[in-house]
Amino acid sequence: MKIAVMTSGGDAPGMNAAIRAVVRTATYYRDEAFVVKEGYRGLVEGKIERAGRFSDCINHGGTLLKTSRLPEFERDDIQQIAANNLRELGIENLVVIGGDGSYRGALGLSRWGINCMCVPGTIDNDIASSDYTIGFDTALDTILQAVDRLRDTSSSHQRCTLVEVMGRRCGDLAIYAGVCSGAELVITNETGFDKQFVLDEMKKARLRGKQHAIIIITEGVTDSTQLAKDISEYTGFGCRATILGHVQRGGNPTGNDRILASQLGSYAVDVIHEGKCNRAVGKVDGKLVNYDIAEALEMKPKMSELYELIKKLG
Ligand code: ADP
Ligand code: F6P
Repeated sequence: MKIAVMTSGGDAPGMNAAIRAVVRTATYYRDEAFVVKEGYRGLVEGKIERAGRFSDCINHGGTLLKTSRLPEFERDDIQQIAANNLRELGIENLVVIGGDGSYRGALGLSRWGINCMCVPGTIDNDIASSDYTIGFDTALDTILQAVDRLRDTSSSHQRCTLVEVMGRRCGDLAIYAGVCSGAELVITNETGFDKQFVLDEMKKARLRGKQHAIIIITEGVTDSTQLAKDISEYTGFGCRATILGHVQRGGNPTGNDRILASQLGSYAVDVIHEGKCNRAVGKVDGKLVNYDIAEALEMKPKMSELYELIKKLG
């Protein structure tokens, strides 16, 4: 068999471990392994090569294959060019490591006769067909290191610190970071945002004698810098906003991410060898699973049960 692997969308720590697992499992089965460089853009431009061994990469963040965002990939004619580029080299299977947008691209490609396997690689943890996505655990650790540092200065100055984290539409990074960092409040799209509630809670906390407070908010919910100003004016707490940004996407993957990436990358090739087509692999309740890509995309992520814990512990 000929199997190609690519990364797409936002990079995530552990993608290299997943690429390595795909290539080495393909070699184990005596398949021919290929790589596509630079995501769907590279696929359309024909940047497809034979794969090397992918040595010395399991510990590195980012993606050695590079990645891209190509909005035009929604178009049938562009998908057809990509499928033809693979077919010209006799490649009938493609493993796509990425987030839900990349899954949609794979679903599109599958309609042009390419057998696509999707592997969840994104820091956002927004793919409901897997309990965790590759990169989430590392990004969470990166956020915690930052929040721990912010707590030191927040405590020294008796301030409230508002930390904006990534996640796109998914609040998991904020909620998990909220529990792990002992945050007072977490604000995400799923929890909803009631500005007056936040102001009142912080004012009450101040009156109760709280020396400092941490609020974690998912990007895109509101203007964090403005919210920090409003908290300062209303509550008596000085408040500063820190927008963590792309630092959350880098760094060496954690052990958990390397294991997840190694298992899912390898399993994607196993599933091809089981003769299955167009599947999304994941790990649910500790077991490796695969779903039809369209079915996986329809699954709705649940709000993490950890949010209830923050209400009790915050
Ligand atoms: P992620 O995969 O991390 O969610 P994006 O949402 O940026 O990141 O998606 C990655 C790429 O997948 C996009 O740049 C585009 O090329 C492709 N893609 C996204 N949505 C679709 C779609 N509806 N149809 C086809 N391709 C898509
Ligand atoms: O999907 C991963 C992610 O980091 C999101 O959390 C964030 O909204 C987005 O990508 C940022 O994208 P870009 O790197 O294009 O700014």
